[in-house]
Amino acid sequence: MKAVALGAPGGLDHLKLMDLPDPGTPGPGEIRVRVHASSLNYHDYLVAQRTDPRYLGRILMADGAGVVEAVGPEVTEFSTGDHVVSTFFPHWLDGEAQVGDFSTVPGDGVDGYAREVVIRPAHWFTHAPKNLDHAEAATLTTAGLTAWRALVGDGRLKAGDTVLALGTGGVSIFALQFAKAMGARVIITSSSDEKLARARSLGADHTINYKADPQWGETVRRITGGGVDHVIEVGGPGTLAESIKAVRIAGHISLIGVLTGGSGEVPTAALMAKQARLQGLIVGNRRQQQDMVRAIETIGLRPVVDRRFALEQLADAFRHEAGQTHFGKLCLEF
Ligand SMILES: NC(=O)c1ccc[n+]([C@@H]2O[C@H](COP(=O)([O-])OP(=O)(O)OC[C@H]3O[C@@H](n4cnc5c(N)ncnc54)[C@H](OP(=O)(O)O)[C@@H]3O)[C@@H](O)[C@H]2O)c1
Repeated sequence: MKAVALGAPGGLDHLKLMDLPDPGTPGPGEIRVRVHASSLNYHDYLVAQRTDPRYLGRILMADGAGVVEAVGPEVTEFSTGDHVVSTFFPHWLDGEAQVGDFSTVPGDGVDGYAREVVIRPAHWFTHAPKNLDHAEAATLTTAGLTAWRALVGDGRLKAGDTVLALGTGGVSIFALQFAKAMGARVIITSSSDEKLARARSLGADHTINYKADPQWGETVRRITGGGVDHVIEVGGPGTLAESIKAVRIAGHISLIGVLTGGSGEVPTAALMAKQARLQGLIVGNRRQQQDMVRAIETIGLRPVVDRRFALEQLADAFRHEAGQTHFGKLCLEF
């Protein structure tokens, strides 16, 4: 069984392709999954950069999708042959957030899905949407569920709302797709006019090049006559001030990303004056993933997979991700 783990002393040049023993048969409450795909997230890229000895040998990747090969005693939710997708927080099944770190997250605190076969408790997976291939399904664990929770689970998006998504990476393109499918208006930004054209072909109503228009928050406020209902904030300190300008009074900013860093100044008075809700969030729970899977099947949504790589090409795939030329998701398929 092939797997890719972080090798000493860490970093992309030291990812190790390993041949591990077959994990055998599932015990009570467990399933054996033949993993066929994973998808790349910025978070996985950060883990792959680590040099902390505690992470050496860690099998990478939070997202995994594949086929159930065997079920252990007492498993009633899955059968052999079912297509499944992994969950980001295996122990957070429902309700409000219960976790504030990555100690239980596959590919970070515990081994992940850059591997061909895995045995895990059944509740570490949900069914995958029937309309998706494995690579498409793998994009749901992290990027898909983050956008879903920000807009639907916590944002309570409704038809007629306006959504602002920053950039054209995995989370933001999911936000565009969910928002359009649910009858919202979408404004999306990018550093690339070509990517903005692709976003318009997916239904974006307004597009802004954030390099050409660094005051994009003011532009959004003007276009909308007062601001948007929801902001998908993936930038962090370098974009939050503009996002605060862009949100409407009493709107909702989902603080999701760290693309411009992990800390910085926040214009607190401007945020207070907007009376907006600024909510930090990390992905979501298993129940929300099941709701999202049902919605994706019903509306026929197909995640945007820009490019697929082989398991052995993981380091190259991360380098490609770092180049930020992709639109939507990058996947591993094996
Ligand atoms: N909290 C959570 O639960 C959660 C979950 C998933 C991801 N995240 C975080 O969210 C962020 C995005 O994740 P992702 O997987 O979507 O990443 P990704 O696919 O790698 O997105 C990269 C894209 O972000 C855009 N971008 C970069 N800098 C930007 C800036 N200053 N302003 C606006 N857009 C910018 C670029 O779009 P253009 O090329 O179009 O300019 C770039 O191509 C990351 O920080 C990630 O760690 C958090």
